[in-house]
Amino acid sequence: MTQGARRSPARRTVLGAAALTTAAAAASAAGAGTAAAAPGTGTATGAEGARGGAHRGLPVPAVIAHRGASGYRPEHTLGSYQLALDMGAHVIEQDLVPTRDGHLVCRHENDISATTDVADHPEFASRRTTKTVDGQALTGWFTEDFTLAELKTLRAKERIPGTRPHNTLYDGRWTVPSFEEVLRWAEKEGRRRGHPVWLHVETKHPTYFRKLGLGLEERLARLLRRYGRHRADSPTFLQSFEPTSMQRMARLVATPRVVLLWTPDDRPYDFVDAGDPRTVADLVTPRGLDWIASYAQGIGPLLDLVIPKGPDGRLGEPTTLVRDAHARGLVLHPYTLRNENTFLPADFRRGTDPHAYGDVFGAYRAYFATGIDGIFTDQPDTGLLAAADHRGR
Ligand code: G3P
Ligand code: CA
Repeated sequence: MTQGARRSPARRTVLGAAALTTAAAAASAAGAGTAAAAPGTGTATGAEGARGGAHRGLPVPAVIAHRGASGYRPEHTLGSYQLALDMGAHVIEQDLVPTRDGHLVCRHENDISATTDVADHPEFASRRTTKTVDGQALTGWFTEDFTLAELKTLRAKERIPGTRPHNTLYDGRWTVPSFEEVLRWAEKEGRRRGHPVWLHVETKHPTYFRKLGLGLEERLARLLRRYGRHRADSPTFLQSFEPTSMQRMARLVATPRVVLLWTPDDRPYDFVDAGDPRTVADLVTPRGLDWIASYAQGIGPLLDLVIPKGPDGRLGEPTTLVRDAHARGLVLHPYTLRNENTFLPADFRRGTDPHAYGDVFGAYRAYFATGIDGIFTDQPDTGLLAAADHRGR
């Protein structure tokens, strides 16, 4: 796939139903393993022995709170993380980008226009600019132009107020957390609860930031070491859409690593930058999975790579991805299931309001039946109920 046709990182931000349907059609067209897969075993070590390490202690399927409990609170805030943990989420996700002075902060993208009140700060008006991030022109305010102290003067807000108007109640309540703050919070909550708090930590735009002299991986590794999350059995997963970021992390720490996979025609930006022609369709082949298994312990595929949708947006037959990944000892943590109709496969939508909740439990049943090891969700409470149903079936 050409660079020009590559989706923008911003468009990956919140995938609406239409976008997902398109992605599903692409998945089918690319033939990402269309044979029906065997039902999953639901065990933590389906490929016994091969999937060892830290994740053996996690329930299967594990419920991963996507940007915290972002269905109920502004994403990537301590409020969102705390609610997710209080709900019982097994793992709490952070996306990381750097500040100008080299601190890692929790934001889904470096453009903070949509998730903070930066536009209301006249002292930062002149920092609004246009940048090319992973080949896409974006206009806004960017974390790499702010020191941590400056970022801390901003307040987080709801990204999709039209879909989640209730969450705007919490606009302005929390700041942008640094990753170190989150590590301290996890340490404190772990002590209080008597068991560790699991994190799922994504490096965002690693090639872009390295070129700015703000390489993410060494900074992340230093923090992981400082907080004892650098071991193979640490309660932490690392993740990235850029495979070379996970290869770099493998040289720095032993923390388990997950390679994220988007649509079959997507070409990871580190591949684009290095002239590597491979796309996600290549990475989900047996050869591609062998390559991933040489430096990672899991994959985080788009849900459509596990069960593609047809042109009508309804779920089709599962691919062989679960079986193929498990055969190589890789866990699967697909993303992202949400309660709202607009994000659900067409067969699970209820009524005509795109923002109303659909039959998310039906969708969970279909995805869990494939044998996935965990799932990212904005609403951990429904995920946990569905996971309990699945384990008790
Ligand atoms: O990291 C798993 C999932 O969060 C990937 O999607 O774009 O929300 O980071 P994104
Ligand atoms: Ca993420």
